[in-house]
Formats: sequence, C-alpha cells, structure tokens
Amino acid sequence: QDELKQAVGQAAVDRLLPHLDDQSIIGVGTGSTANCFIDALAKHKLAFDGAVASSEATAERLKSHGIAVYELNSVGHLDFYVDGADESNEHLELIKGGGAALTREKIVAAVAKTFICIADESKLVPVLGAFPLPVEVIPMARSHVAREIVKLGGDPVYREGCVTDNGNVILDIYNLSIVNPQQLESDLNAIVGVVCNGLFAARPADVLLLGTKDGVKTLE
Ligand code: A5P
Repeated sequence: QDELKQAVGQAAVDRLLPHLDDQSIIGVGTGSTANCFIDALAKHKLAFDGAVASSEATAERLKSHGIAVYELNSVGHLDFYVDGADESNEHLELIKGGGAALTREKIVAAVAKTFICIADESKLVPVLGAFPLPVEVIPMARSHVAREIVKLGGDPVYREGCVTDNGNVILDIYNLSIVNPQQLESDLNAIVGVVCNGLFAARPADVLLLGTKDGVKTLE
C-alpha cells in the first residue's frame, strides 16, 4: 500500500505541474498519502510559490522541505487542494478525519477550485460508513452531541487522548450505512456543539486518483 500511496502522490504532482507558476499556492492535506504527495512535490519546489496546510503536521512537513507555508486568510484564491481520504464512493463523496484534521481540511477544500483526492484502491467503497465517521466537537458539548448522534442511528465513540489542532475533541460514529451523505452531513452540522463532520458530500472531490495494482486510475 505504501507503493500505491507513492504512486498517487506522484500522479497528483504530475497533474499539477503543467498548471503551476511562481505565483501558485497549493492547498495540501494531511495523512500518510498526503505526505507522499508532499515529498514528491518538494522535488519541484522552484515551480511554485508555496502552500496552505490543513494541519500543523503538514505545515511542519512542508517547511522541512523548504516549502513556504501561507495562512489561508492571506491567500486570495487556491486553484488546487490535494488530500487523501479514509473512504470514497463512486460519486467522490468522502469520509475524512481519521487523522483528526477534518475541519481545516474541509475549510481548505471549500476555498480550492479543484479538489484532487489521492487514495489507494482499498479506500473506494460502494457505500460510505464502514470507516467510523469522525465528528469534531466542542469539548463541553461532547455528551450532548453523542446523545443526538444516537438519535440519528449511529454509535458515537469518544476518541480518547485526541485533541484537534483547534483544541476540540473527536467522536467517531460507528455502525452507519450512509446512503444519503449530503443529508447526514447537514444533519450532523445542525447539532449544537458540532464544529464539523468528516463527510465531504456538499463539497466532494472533483478528481480521485486511485492507486491500484494495475496503475493509477482517474475518476472524475
Ligand atoms: C486526516 O484527518 C484525514 O482526513 C486523512 O486525509 C485521511 O485519514 C487519510 O489518511 P491516510 O492517507 O493516512 O490514509
């Protein structure tokens, strides 16, 4: 799977390169697949200006390669956001947040014109939900949000020891079969105390580069 992740990281770089110039700023996601992208991108760091990071960990990795990291608020627009996912369906609706970076990921994805998702083939599923759906929650609302999630039919589990970059906690929702991702994304967002949930359905990926044993496949 490491090789598949490296292959999609490189494929994303290959796809971006023709569009980059010395003004370009790239949105960069979080996780092991995004790390492969960062490492491949670093070889071309003179071809673009810098990046916006979706987590402190990604900012550190970018800086360690000598890539400039910008605050999102100081950037006028982003042409591309590149990130991994925990699951994708064939409509490129995603579950993200296994690494707890979902809120910043969703913000950067919202700004970007094109969201390129990179993943190995194990991530493509017919129905989202086998991967527990992460929800970022204001700490004092944790029990309230958990009770509301039970009413929606899910089994929330507090992710022990996890504090997000925003100082919040994560509830992972087990035992969901998500037949209407947009509806569930909106229902979860309507619970007071929820900061964000890991469904990317209102804003799905635009392109999925999928690493398979037969090479990188493109879904768009
Ligand atoms: C981080 O919060 C997540 O959204 C990651 O994008 C997701 O967990 C994929 O991570 P891997 O590339 O490590 O599987």
